[in-house]
Amino acid sequence: MRVRRSGSLVILLEGEDLVFHNYLAQSTFLANPQALEIVRAVSDWTDLDALSARFPGYSKGSLQGAISDLATLGALVIEGDEEAEADARFQREWLWGPFAAAFHHATRVGSFMSEASAVEMLQDRAHFTPSPPLYLTNSDPANDISLPVRNEYGEPFATMSRRRTHRAFRQAPLSLLEIADCLLFSMAITAVIEDPEVVDLPLKMTPSGGARNPYEAYVAARRVEGLEPGVYHYSAMERTLGRVGGPPPAFGALLAGQDWADDAAALIFLVANFERTMWKYHDPMAYRVVAVEAGHIGQNIMLTATHHGFLANPTGAMDFEAVEATLGVSGPTKGVLYCLILGRPGPLETQVPA
Ligand SMILES: Cc1cc2nc3c(=O)[nH]c(=O)nc-3n(C[C@H](O)[C@H](O)[C@H](O)COP(=O)(O)O)c2cc1C
Repeated sequence: MRVRRSGSLVILLEGEDLVFHNYLAQSTFLANPQALEIVRAVSDWTDLDALSARFPGYSKGSLQGAISDLATLGALVIEGDEEAEADARFQREWLWGPFAAAFHHATRVGSFMSEASAVEMLQDRAHFTPSPPLYLTNSDPANDISLPVRNEYGEPFATMSRRRTHRAFRQAPLSLLEIADCLLFSMAITAVIEDPEVVDLPLKMTPSGGARNPYEAYVAARRVEGLEPGVYHYSAMERTLGRVGGPPPAFGALLAGQDWADDAAALIFLVANFERTMWKYHDPMAYRVVAVEAGHIGQNIMLTATHHGFLANPTGAMDFEAVEATLGVSGPTKGVLYCLILGRPGPLETQVPA
């Protein structure tokens, strides 16, 4: 049996302690001196004999025990194990280094609060620490430049001005055309720049850093006329839906407990395929570029819905693992980043953002 240090291990100083954190395995544990010595020594595949020769002060039995504990905690991987495969694949495919990787994984963890506890928590926090201002004003009225005032918007500005997040749906279906329009105006490939030397670049109505087109859209449909409840992949080139799964779990469960989404008609998930962008840009700055693009796509979905008179609410809070399992998406360079919750507006009780 040979072992190697997990590639997705970071060590943090907390007080006087060194704390191991494996962002792939999502495990956290204290690094005692023996663990640290062993983990430092196994930067490449190492067997027990080699380890024993390196640490003559430890018996083979205690080294064996330490290795198996460290493997269980995620500090080491054992050659041939599933974890070792995943670790190697991650090291091979993730090109943006450990900081962006740790950020990507750390930001998949979060807890969603009920509206009542969120309100209570915010009131409490505001009482002890006032919120930073949420906008800046200019401070020199004599010299500040007044901008022309518009009384009428006209289109497309009237639609833009009507967009609103409204966290209440009624159980009514959307039409297939309404869903198709949301996908068309945000995701559909509308032109291609041909480049036989490198790769053809798809263009759509929303911009994409380097035209790398990292997103794929998936629809979880519950109430869409002409569409069996199920999970579908949108082919942006063919403009078709391909069924990838049966009726989706409750929307609130996929969206980290936001139960107000349960009555929505459909969800559109935006899944980043980071490898498309990594292939061109090896610099982790490109992570930001991918994240920003989700906002462009989401905005066009929201404006399309507003134009048609239904809701598209944005959410970044998800049970990411459950969503990816539902969509059938996996791999070290893929991840769902954004979701639009579509449906007909219901009566508005509260309007408190989560
Ligand atoms: C990136 C992003 C993530 C959001 N995530 C959530 C969310 O998880 N839950 C939620 O209820 N609203 C979410 N919202 C909606 C905001 O709370 C909402 O946009 C804000 O309250 C302003 O209201 P408006 O959309 O009506 O202008 C999100 C908005 C954005 C832009």
